[in-house]
Amino acid sequence: MGLCILSLLNLFAFLIFTSVQARGVRGPNKYSFKRNYNVTWGLNNALLLNQETEVQLSMDQKSGSGFESYNHYKSGLFHMRIKLPEKNSIGIVTAFYLSSPRSAVNDKHDELDFEFLGSNGPPYTLQTNVFVNGQGGREQKIKLWFNPTKHFHSYKILWNQFRVVFYVDDIPIRVFKNNAKLGVSYPSKPMRVIGSLWNPESWASNGIKTDWSQAPFKAKFQDFNIHGCTLQTRGNKNCHSSKLWWNGKKYQSLNVREQRAYQNVRRKYMTYDYCSDRSRHPKTPPECRRKK
Ligand SMILES: *[C@@H]1O[C@H](CO)[C@@H](O)[C@H](O)[C@H]1NC(C)=O
Repeated sequence: MGLCILSLLNLFAFLIFTSVQARGVRGPNKYSFKRNYNVTWGLNNALLLNQETEVQLSMDQKSGSGFESYNHYKSGLFHMRIKLPEKNSIGIVTAFYLSSPRSAVNDKHDELDFEFLGSNGPPYTLQTNVFVNGQGGREQKIKLWFNPTKHFHSYKILWNQFRVVFYVDDIPIRVFKNNAKLGVSYPSKPMRVIGSLWNPESWASNGIKTDWSQAPFKAKFQDFNIHGCTLQTRGNKNCHSSKLWWNGKKYQSLNVREQRAYQNVRRKYMTYDYCSDRSRHPKTPPECRRKK
């Protein structure tokens, strides 16, 4: 009897999990890349495809490539559909992130990162990080439960005055709450939306060298509509208005279904959490003490 209820619960959790997953896989949207984005480096390694609704970045021994949104944003639900490089891509990183401008001296930039670490096969590791005032060191890593090189999947970053949420196919995989009350800094600077393919060999591969015989590595991006509040269209304060849907009730906390899916990811797929890395953080960071 107990066992039966348990397996029913498991089935239930599984159904919720897969239904959340299925909702994430939509057709590519038809926004032209150029409407919101510009290739900013490695111009020869960026290729627009399918009436400019898709961009392919490639990485060879000379260069990677990257693009940025024209605008800076102060809040939004930012999304991208990405297909990672196939083959052995150890040492190559595909990134989708938000960042305010960096400065070479006394850097105080804010940044919210998805970083997909190259691999010679599944499981693929997705690292997320949160920088505020130039301070990062908040890495979390999960193993993806699918092969991200086979199909496009959806990745989203919610950023409002309540929280930052990272989503994979609409499943929340990380929540960074605004804990200003606890004295924790929270991202607040205008940020651009950025995609890139690059090669930080030293940290992304534990010293294993990239196999350049596999080059060029190719990552594809789609979904170039942007749901965000720009400084141009609204004053600074209004980007927090609850009239903007991504600031509304639905995006102020996880619902029960999201909460379950989130806990499931943490339990089954998380491989690293800075919150519990005592060698780097002898004292638990304040934002880690309160759960969720
Ligand atoms: C696009 O990026 C290039 C390279 O950084 C830059 O020179 C150019 O001004 C940008 N174009 C726009 C419209 O921002």
